[in-house]
Amino acid sequence: MDPGGCGVTRETTDPDYWNDLAARYEAMAAPFTGHFAQAALAGLEIGSGTQLLDVATGTGALALAAAERGAVVTAIDFAPAMVTRVAAHGHPHVIALQMDGQALDLPDDAFDVVASVFGVMLFPDWRAGLAEMARVCRPGGSAVVVVWSDPEGAAIFQWLADIRRQLFPADPRPEPAVGMTVMAEPERLAEAIVSAGFEAPIVRAEAHEFQLDLQLLDDPETAFSGMPLWTTLTTVQKRAVRAEMMRRVVAAGVKNVFPITSTALIATARLAG
Ligand SMILES: C[S@@+](CC[C@H](N)C(=O)[O-])C[C@H]1O[C@@H](n2cnc3c(N)ncnc32)[C@H](O)[C@@H]1O
Repeated sequence: MDPGGCGVTRETTDPDYWNDLAARYEAMAAPFTGHFAQAALAGLEIGSGTQLLDVATGTGALALAAAERGAVVTAIDFAPAMVTRVAAHGHPHVIALQMDGQALDLPDDAFDVVASVFGVMLFPDWRAGLAEMARVCRPGGSAVVVVWSDPEGAAIFQWLADIRRQLFPADPRPEPAVGMTVMAEPERLAEAIVSAGFEAPIVRAEAHEFQLDLQLLDDPETAFSGMPLWTTLTTVQKRAVRAEMMRRVVAAGVKNVFPITSTALIATARLAG
């Protein structure tokens, strides 16, 4: 299980990983990623009839919020269960389609705004994902790309990585997706977006708290089962990691939820018009 849905695992390139996760993602991760989707939209001109593409829409945080502002939204994801969840909202201005973001089955110059929130960064060919966003954006249109500022992800991923760094500094940790590593730094994110064909990128940081349900720590083996940052630990190391989690929770003086602040980079850019 990936309770936060906010980092990369070996399986993230498999649609079935996301199919299995869709219900939990909508309940647990989307309320958190939704803060960043709202922030991404805040930097864009969106009005009635704006044609907007949301790449790797997940359960549709950005797509649905954009439609509420009057946009006509195409929301794509390679996991059918995610697409079904977006379609289930029945929003008259949202069409949800199953599609690989690295090879969009969409015409050139079709959208006023192209967006991807914690999506393109996961693609094996993340540069193709960005280039496809540029291809389908009309000249003069806008792009917004949101990534984590920590290559190891956010929320529980970030917490686990931090604890592993503290407890086992000499041990290597599982490699994040290449796109997450490259784009976690503002200059490199801007460079990647320009390489894809956009211009005048502006990158800003945005932080929000992930509220970790402390009940998950009762059974970490289940809670963190899909997360290499947990599964690659030995039994003895897992015990030490859980003890450090509990120590941090007690030190924070919290009862039901433990807040983990995660920071994203939000990049906006334009296609030359
Ligand atoms: C971390 S979730 C982000 C979802 C959503 N944008 C949000 O912010 O909540 C990543 C999403 O990317 C989708 N995804 C991963 N690889 C993809 C690909 N190659 N093409 C399209 N979607 C992909 C997954 O199915 C999943 O829904």
